[in-house]
Amino acid sequence: MKCLKINGGRKLKGSIDVHGAKNSILPVLCATVLINGKSVIHNCPTLSDVEVTVNILRYLGANVSREGNTLIVDATSISRSNILEPQMKELRSSIIFLGALASRTGQACLYLPGGCDIGLRPIDLHLKGLKALGYEVFTDGHNVCATRRDVIGKEIVLPFPSVGATENIILASVLAKGTTTIVNAAREPEIEDLADFLNKAGARIYGTSTPTITIEGVNELNGAEHTVIPDRILATTLMSACAITGGRIQLNNVCMPHIMPTLPVFDEMGCDVSYNYSSVKIKAPNRLKRVKSIETMAYPGFPTDCQAPVMSALCVADGTSIIKETIFENRFKHIEQLNLFGADISVNDRIAVVNGVNSLHSANAKCTDLRGGAAVVIAGLSAEGESTITDIQHIDRGYENIEHQLSLLNADVKRIDDEKQQIK
Ligand code: EPZ
Repeated sequence: MKCLKINGGRKLKGSIDVHGAKNSILPVLCATVLINGKSVIHNCPTLSDVEVTVNILRYLGANVSREGNTLIVDATSISRSNILEPQMKELRSSIIFLGALASRTGQACLYLPGGCDIGLRPIDLHLKGLKALGYEVFTDGHNVCATRRDVIGKEIVLPFPSVGATENIILASVLAKGTTTIVNAAREPEIEDLADFLNKAGARIYGTSTPTITIEGVNELNGAEHTVIPDRILATTLMSACAITGGRIQLNNVCMPHIMPTLPVFDEMGCDVSYNYSSVKIKAPNRLKRVKSIETMAYPGFPTDCQAPVMSALCVADGTSIIKETIFENRFKHIEQLNLFGADISVNDRIAVVNGVNSLHSANAKCTDLRGGAAVVIAGLSAEGESTITDIQHIDRGYENIEHQLSLLNADVKRIDDEKQQIK
């Protein structure tokens, strides 16, 4: 079993480039199903979720090759309209193929998706959106199929601005007749990135980054070249790692407006943050200050994906911080692991109370999910002595070679293969 060995207590320093955003790459790859000809997609790090998505594309009949961080996808010869159950279970965003594949082949036969265990994660809004457009949708709680009937643009009002549902509706309607409007659409930067890619391919999508997205259907999409946006969650994760170690780092290749929702929190922690459009410098104080209250929200609120990494930094802040998770009902699994390092966190339903301690001690802990895993690594960076972090396959879904990235910033982190290191 692979694990990370961290010798903590070293201040992070230096500078690093932030890689492309997982949550952009996945829907962009799903979108290639709709495109005739070759799409060239830059800034795609090697992440396990990306590799699973590439394998799904290949199963469907697409040609996919990788040259460094560039993926070249040609889905002209798509020959299948189903996805195998193990592939569906590997990641949540496999469900985004539903709209794209049904639109492209006339029918998509999938299974309910897997992904990080952070709550119920229903797909009712995806299915209602597709039905409203005129797809026939079937699910029995295990299989999920969509068949294209007379698909005509509609106004679809989302009761919650779901990222995945917004993406699925865009993909299901981009080649439909007429105009589709998504009211109360998600405004996450990854939605705008998906639309940018599709528009380069010939789509007509307007209003992303506002609550109302308009999609004027087109007859066909042709190959496009696109560079995926930088990963805002990776940026905040590294800033949290810097904060907990009292370090000073510079992140390059960021898109600063996307990180803005998290900046007030680093300010309140006492970090000195300066930036221009594409880079950010952060200098942490010797002792972080507590943050009175953080509440996760849809963009442009504080991102749920940053909740765990930031919580980890707050474990050693001076005073008590309150964190409310409003997006997912079960996204606090990392807390038990953080407490193994000597953190003092208690949970009441969706509220975590983080009583800052003077320092963390080394521990053997496991990654419970992707961002929770990053939080555990951050705790290990702060704790004096050697910590062992297992179940790191969760981290590999969204952080490319995390030990290398952190080593470039002066951390002592190694990946090892150790059959005996299994934390129960
Ligand atoms: C995306 O998940 C991201 N995943 C998540 O990132 C991220 O945490 C989340 O958006 C919120 O920002 C990808 O982009 C691949 P949602 P998604 O639909 O699309 C409820 C990470 O760590 N809901 O906006 O699944 C749902 O249960 C991951 O990188 C319904 O009720 O998020 C949740 O409570 C994890 N019915 C809320 O909406 C639906 O049909 C937000 O979900 C759909 C969602």
